Amino acid sequence: MSDPVQNELGRRFVGRVALVTGAGHGIGRAVAERLAAEGARLVLADLDEAAAMATADQLAPADAVATACDVHVTSSVDACIDLAVRHFGQLDVLVNVAGGSIAMPAFEDITDEAWNEMLDLNLTGAMRCIRAALPQLRRRPTAVIVSITSVNGLAAFGEEAYSSAKAGLSLLTRNLAIKLGPEGIPSTRSPRAQCAPGSGTARTAAPIGCGRCIRWAGWGSRATSPRPWRSWPPTTPPGSPA
Ligand SMILES: NC(=O)c1ccc[n+]([C@@H]2O[C@H](COP(=O)([O-])OP(=O)(O)OC[C@H]3O[C@@H](n4cnc5c(N)ncnc54)[C@H](O)[C@@H]3O)[C@@H](O)[C@H]2O)c1
Repeated sequence: MSDPVQNELGRRFVGRVALVTGAGHGIGRAVAERLAAEGARLVLADLDEAAAMATADQLAPADAVATACDVHVTSSVDACIDLAVRHFGQLDVLVNVAGGSIAMPAFEDITDEAWNEMLDLNLTGAMRCIRAALPQLRRRPTAVIVSITSVNGLAAFGEEAYSSAKAGLSLLTRNLAIKLGPEGIPSTRSPRAQCAPGSGTARTAAPIGCGRCIRWAGWGSRATSPRPWRSWPPTTPPGSPA
């Protein structure tokens, strides 16, 4: 099979600006790499500003700007969107990657604070980003929103808080697909955020999952008939660890 980045489909993001949260490490960095390889200009947002800057350095000569961003904080998220508009004049693609599982005690010992933090990081944070980005995305003919969920959002693996947050994110995304799809803004989520086997700290790039995310994001290049309901696979893919 030919390399998709080398053929026509591999330049789908030329002329488009993408904001990737959690772009400093792991899946977010891999998503950014793929988007850059396909011609996107990028805003790389991460709580870890130095890591976001390292991603930008790695992507050079791609046009990318790095910024500190905490998806827990509305003003911080709003500042990222402002940066995209100030620096590039537009925003076409939002990829919600920032998130992850936080170690939890036994269920009866979970505090309100720990529960809320998990939901805030993995669900409300993405909501903040989508809410802030929407006015800009609505101005663009090929806008798209992608949110990285997890197979934990589709089935139970014993991580109640993480699973609840990711299931919420899946349904948020599917609900938005109904509302925004007819406007030409596909909203989709990838449960296949798959890391290389044995990645342990989950810092490993995720070429499989990310390729799929970006294929889905490429829908935005089809301004008509985004068909959001076909966006999510009905079955759990084999070999997905989380
Ligand atoms: N690794 C896996 O196996 C796997 C599987 C399914 C889904 N996911 C999901 O994929 C996403 C990325 O996972 P990963 O393995 O690459 O994790 P990672 O820890 O390697 O990267 C997460 C990135 O998000 C950033 N981040 C953390 N909190 C943030 C905040 N409040 N605001 C902004 N940025 C913040 C971190 O600094 C980091 O750069 C997460 O949403 C995770 O739940 C991961």
